[in-house]
Amino acid sequence: MQLGFKTLDDIDYIGKRILLRVDMNCSVDPKTKRITDFSRIEAVRPTLDELSKSKLVLMAHQGSPGSDDFISLEQHTEIIRDMGFDAIFVDDIFGQKAKEAIKQVKVGEILVLQNVRYFEGELKKASPKEVAQEPIVQELYPFFDFFVNDAFGAAHRSQASLVGFTTVLPSVAGRLVEKEVRTLTAATSTDKHPWTLVLGGSKVEDKVSILEKLLATGRVDNALLGGLIGTLFLIAASKVPESYSAPIKGFDAAIETARKLLTKHSDTLILPEDAAIDKSNRVDCDFTEMGGNPFLDIGQKSVKKFVGIIKKSAVVFANGPMGYFEEETFATGTMKVLRAIADCKGITVVGGGHMGAMAKKMHLDNQITHISTGGGATINFLTGKKLDLILALEESAKRM
Ligand code: 3PG
Repeated sequence: MQLGFKTLDDIDYIGKRILLRVDMNCSVDPKTKRITDFSRIEAVRPTLDELSKSKLVLMAHQGSPGSDDFISLEQHTEIIRDMGFDAIFVDDIFGQKAKEAIKQVKVGEILVLQNVRYFEGELKKASPKEVAQEPIVQELYPFFDFFVNDAFGAAHRSQASLVGFTTVLPSVAGRLVEKEVRTLTAATSTDKHPWTLVLGGSKVEDKVSILEKLLATGRVDNALLGGLIGTLFLIAASKVPESYSAPIKGFDAAIETARKLLTKHSDTLILPEDAAIDKSNRVDCDFTEMGGNPFLDIGQKSVKKFVGIIKKSAVVFANGPMGYFEEETFATGTMKVLRAIADCKGITVVGGGHMGAMAKKMHLDNQITHISTGGGATINFLTGKKLDLILALEESAKRM
């Protein structure tokens, strides 16, 4: 397959100072703030291995301001060290401390900069040229020979650390981005049906907008909804009262689109039929019996329905858990859906930090066609629109 961007094969990186952007946004225990799964760090090992002949500076985000998992990259650095690399951390992104540390990096060492989202300008989303004006890019790029982007999980975000450097440095994709693009291109080039999307988790505003685009392609036969996105649609369909919107960030912006989609795609959108709530232990019940208790998982009737559809599908893409999977009792819906995906004989892709980590924990990796590190990125890929990160790398390739 011909790629429109350049890769590590196209540059002479030996001995050079390289800025590497990765997505090592990991699941974090909301109480202890410890990383619970580091498969996204493992996923960039091939790139780290290959660049061990360079002076490597690593840049990444973790969570976003206000989220439970918005933590420093110190723990990530320890994990990289435990993986056998000579990694050190600097608590700075582009200030004097970071610059001094960057100058000192030796061949074979990895310097990890602080969480890029500690810098406000990183949250701005605009064209590569615009975000390249942010100080994170302007202050750092003169120190580097090449920019390598291996942050597939964030490939749909046009932010400074992801696309800005591609306008000022020769830029190529890392091995993970290359592998994801090749594998997802192969998986999406089938026209087999039924084609099923399993969508759960939070980031509701993002997901509704991408669902709208995906449904417009006409590719999706079934969209099974769980997690907070499922709750949004249940409210939109007046199956549960609006009071259940409390945990949904971006509810007001998303509800109208959800209503519109329900009118237009009523046969495709498949909502949960019951819920699991906590009454000192798990209780599966109809919506009328929830009594204001939070929606913590899809209930047994929903699981049965979702599993039946998944098993008969020719293609399944899944992203986002069905409920509060952090608690074992409420992980059942997500686990049964994953088991059905593993049993499905068609092409199956599971994406996103949470679902991917759980599939691996359940040892289902060998029964699923591809476990993608991308959640939002992978779903965006399915719409056929090129991801921002890829577009930026393609533009850079033209200039190189
Ligand atoms: C993800 O977890 O999907 C990526 O790391 C991107 O994170 P974001 O949705 O917070 O930009």
